[in-house]
Amino acid sequence: MTFRVLVVFSVLCTAQCLAHSFPPGFKFGAATSAYQIEGGWNASGKGRNIWDTFTHGTSNIVVDKSSGDIACDSYHLWQQDVNMAEELGLDFYRFSISWSRLLPKAFANEIDEDGVAYYNNLINELLKRNIEPVITLYHYDLPQILQDLGGWVNPLIADWFANYAKVAYSLYADRVKTWLTINEPSILCDYIFTTGMFPPMIKEPVLGPYLCNKNVLLAHAKAWRIYDEEYKPVFKGRVSIANNPVWIEPASPEHANLAELAREFGAGRYSHPIYSKKGGWPPSVEKHMAILSKKQGYSESRLPSFSIEEIELIRGTYDYYGLNHYTSRVIRPRRPGEEIGPWIFYGSTELDAVLETPKSWPTTDADDVVMYPKGIRKQLEWLHHKYGNITFLITENGCASRSDDNDQDRIAFIKSYLEQVSLAIKEGIHVEGYTVWSLMDNFEWLFGYKTKYGLYKVDFNDPQRRRTPRASAHYYANVIKTRTTDFPTNIRHKKKYYNNRSNAKSLHSHNILLFILCWLCVK
Ligand code: NOJ
Repeated sequence: MTFRVLVVFSVLCTAQCLAHSFPPGFKFGAATSAYQIEGGWNASGKGRNIWDTFTHGTSNIVVDKSSGDIACDSYHLWQQDVNMAEELGLDFYRFSISWSRLLPKAFANEIDEDGVAYYNNLINELLKRNIEPVITLYHYDLPQILQDLGGWVNPLIADWFANYAKVAYSLYADRVKTWLTINEPSILCDYIFTTGMFPPMIKEPVLGPYLCNKNVLLAHAKAWRIYDEEYKPVFKGRVSIANNPVWIEPASPEHANLAELAREFGAGRYSHPIYSKKGGWPPSVEKHMAILSKKQGYSESRLPSFSIEEIELIRGTYDYYGLNHYTSRVIRPRRPGEEIGPWIFYGSTELDAVLETPKSWPTTDADDVVMYPKGIRKQLEWLHHKYGNITFLITENGCASRSDDNDQDRIAFIKSYLEQVSLAIKEGIHVEGYTVWSLMDNFEWLFGYKTKYGLYKVDFNDPQRRRTPRASAHYYANVIKTRTTDFPTNIRHKKKYYNNRSNAKSLHSHNILLFILCWLCVK
């Protein structure tokens, strides 16, 4: 009898462990971006970008009025960043190039040698330590000169960006095999132009998001094609874009169609043109915008059309799907007299709908980061279902906190999202890797240094910007080492996590189930 109990127990325990393990080739990484960590805002020949202008100007609305002038000082302390990446055991490190550091005047006529050397050193050191460099070409920090010329709503930006990409490839593609063109295009276009709350602080929700959306896709496509034609045959690397859909569910079953349209508005507008067989805008969004624009008195749809050549230019410009995923929302129609908001992007205005957070979804201790781990799996399933058997790289996922030291939320967040990624893999979705945002605390845009995402804490009062590993760094290092989401024995406070998180319930019920099964066997 005892033997039977033991067998059942070990089978079930093994199953439980295997449930959250990762296949051997799965890669783990961490990410940062240039403006958020580098500092050295005017070092050497670096040109000014829109974040320099914004944070130095009178319209700086960053909560602590800070800037990225020094940030983590990675411009000088990059070796420490590589040490941290090595200490964690990262398979890859995702960072971005500052366009205006490489090209102070934004164009290839002037290349700053110190800028070139900075990224060369970083790449070489990473490779020396067996860490793959993953480069993002654009992470919100547009050269000011280009903004003065209209920025992302000027169609010429597609060529400006492609020329910059070509310079970057020519310098680094011999060693860098994984590239991302543009980070979070829906923040760049939808959030910025709908709210006007991010540099360049232009609020133009009528046409801005859509002109920008189209130009971003063209810029990405041109940069992808340059790599594909000129560099891929030699260096065998790959290029993608880092999309950032928020997973959307219906607030109640009768709003299923609305939720699906919202997903097409959020994820589809930046994915369908690239990943679908037919290319172009998602048909449901195109139709909705045509009808709505007509109703509003416009002679044409506010969603700009693509020519056949443009559709073909953009279609198929991917080697994998870069997915930044943080959070989820539910959607329902707006009630009469009700305000739309606080989330007024991802199509909610156009859909006359309200995006909300169910009370049962826990929030972390900072800002509006809502934990709904299943959202990442559902998002992957949706994209997999829509666009077929593509390879996914989770290019960002991470947890915001206000408090410096208690990062149990961060451990819970990473663990529970990773578990869902592992389940997605078991369902047959090809996810090849996962990236924590962020390697270390950094300049969190409008939240300045108040909001922290780091596996490593950075002391911003210390001129040396001392970096210290948090418990989550130890946890993540163990994940990488063991390729499972299990807790190492040296992580403290795990009780607290299981006491107050919804995972506690599922773990608890799992154990009860185990107990009942064993009891039945004994009987
Ligand atoms: C996504 C962005 O890419 C990154 O810059 C930002 O810091 C994180 N989200 C957290 O907000």
